[in-house]
Amino acid sequence: MAKGPDGKNTSGRGQRDLTVKVKTARGRRNSSTRWLQRQLNDPYVKRAQAEGYRGRAAFKIMELDDKFRFLVNGARVVDLGCAPGGWAQVAVPRINALGEKPGKAVGRFIGVDLQEVEPLAGAEFHVLDFMEDGADDKVKEWLGGRADVVMSDMAASSSGHKQTDHLRIIALCEAAAYLAFDVLEEGGTFVSKVLAGGAEGDLQKLLKQRFTKVANVKPPASRPDSSEKFVIATGFRG
Ligand SMILES: C[S@@+](CC[C@H](N)C(=O)[O-])C[C@H]1O[C@@H](n2cnc3c(N)ncnc32)[C@H](O)[C@@H]1O
Repeated sequence: MAKGPDGKNTSGRGQRDLTVKVKTARGRRNSSTRWLQRQLNDPYVKRAQAEGYRGRAAFKIMELDDKFRFLVNGARVVDLGCAPGGWAQVAVPRINALGEKPGKAVGRFIGVDLQEVEPLAGAEFHVLDFMEDGADDKVKEWLGGRADVVMSDMAASSSGHKQTDHLRIIALCEAAAYLAFDVLEEGGTFVSKVLAGGAEGDLQKLLKQRFTKVANVKPPASRPDSSEKFVIATGFRG
């Protein structure tokens, strides 16, 4: 039987697609009912459950890496906002963090998040608020050298105000970019979630000065009704 990334069997893959309807319940807001209904009917949520991924976000990094190929054997990766660990599940085998591919370079995976993350073989997780003073230095200390990839899926919980959420996510992305400038090896890659909304222009300018190529991508796994997209900067100039 086929196994998913956590060693669970993936026999749910052939399930029939049945749309689940959620009734409005007393005490539950309409927005929560809509979220629950969307979650229960989302094909990527079903796929994540069937294939043993910790969340649908795993498919976003998979699709981005299938296109840009930055998670290579031997890569040293820093993942900011890594909980619950879906990106880690994708990265660990791709970078050969467990040394399971004979003759191939062995990678390293360091993830940080505000929340504790369930352990995963081949990944090193740390609880850290990346926006606190000195957070960069802590990551650099854990890394103990250069990184080939800095990636961030950090997102603050929604304030319900679109522009505020946008500015917050840009601040997280900028902080991640500054860590990348500091630790990336020449030729390295920076990947970060952003929300379309106007203020990302300055960030793009900054990235274009430091990387040979900057692309904005909305992977198929990113919900079409969300303004989320990913910026991928490749070829760090050092
Ligand atoms: C969308 S989730 C990440 C999902 C992850 N990529 C995965 O595949 O499992 C966003 C994460 O960003 C984290 N986060 C938000 N602000 C943060 C901060 N200041 N420092 C560290 N993590 C942060 C949240 O705790 C949350 O777990």
